[in-house]
Amino acid sequence: MGLFILPMGIFEWIRTKAAGDQSKPALQRIPQHVAIIMDGNGRWAQHRGLPRSAGHRAGLDRVRDAVEFCAANGVKYLTLFAFSTENWRRPTEEVEYLMKLFEEALKKEIAKLHENGIRIRFIGLREEVSPSLQQLMTESERLTKNNQTLVLNIAINYGGRSELVTAARRIAEKALQGELQPQQITEEQISKHLFTAGQPDPDLLIKPGGELRISNFLIWQMAYTEFYFSELMWPDFKNDELYKAFRDYSQRKRRFGKVKGE
Ligand code: FPP
Repeated sequence: MGLFILPMGIFEWIRTKAAGDQSKPALQRIPQHVAIIMDGNGRWAQHRGLPRSAGHRAGLDRVRDAVEFCAANGVKYLTLFAFSTENWRRPTEEVEYLMKLFEEALKKEIAKLHENGIRIRFIGLREEVSPSLQQLMTESERLTKNNQTLVLNIAINYGGRSELVTAARRIAEKALQGELQPQQITEEQISKHLFTAGQPDPDLLIKPGGELRISNFLIWQMAYTEFYFSELMWPDFKNDELYKAFRDYSQRKRRFGKVKGE
């Protein structure tokens, strides 16, 4: 036994045991907030001669895995990019399929998410989605509002620039009402007017799909986020890959503009 403990280090071994998975070394540092751009569903399906919708459905399986993985590893916030303000420009058939999939997934999963202590929140301009989806969104948020294991932010009709425009309008309203002086408009004030108000900024962004960009996602919040890109398509991004992303993150030196790393 000693021979196995020594190379790994006794503390690491204990942590791994506690996490219940002896096949992988425990992670040194867990991101508090993880953001994921679930890219590559369409190409995953096309590579297999399937319609793009099959890729989105397969992507939903990875959503379940990612929520479970994050909750089990002590992540406190998980933010998933499900539909962007730009995605309305896709063929109507695909947009309709995605909206149906969101409704179906919410109806089917909400009870289990609630049982597991997941708090659901939606970020984005919800007024522009169908009334039935809006209703499900509000009900899921209400049902899970006291849950504490993990906050799951689902971005639907979300765009980082549009979020900043919304925040600027709200702040301008307050200034017009005399509630706020221009010099009181600080970085903290802007953060407080975003959909993610009160939440820590993402520590780690994961983007599968082989492309190196942030696609208008959380552009204010990701000023100091660590990025992890992967060539794999989202439906292939199973928990082993999430583990690799977390391991990579745990070895990064975060300096936040200072000289000494965290
Ligand atoms: C991007 O891949 C993916 C989307 C626009 C949709 C993602 C949605 C899901 C996985 C369902 C999630 C459901 C809930 C309730 C959270 P893409 O279509 O842009 O792929 P491509 O780059 O290969 O075209």
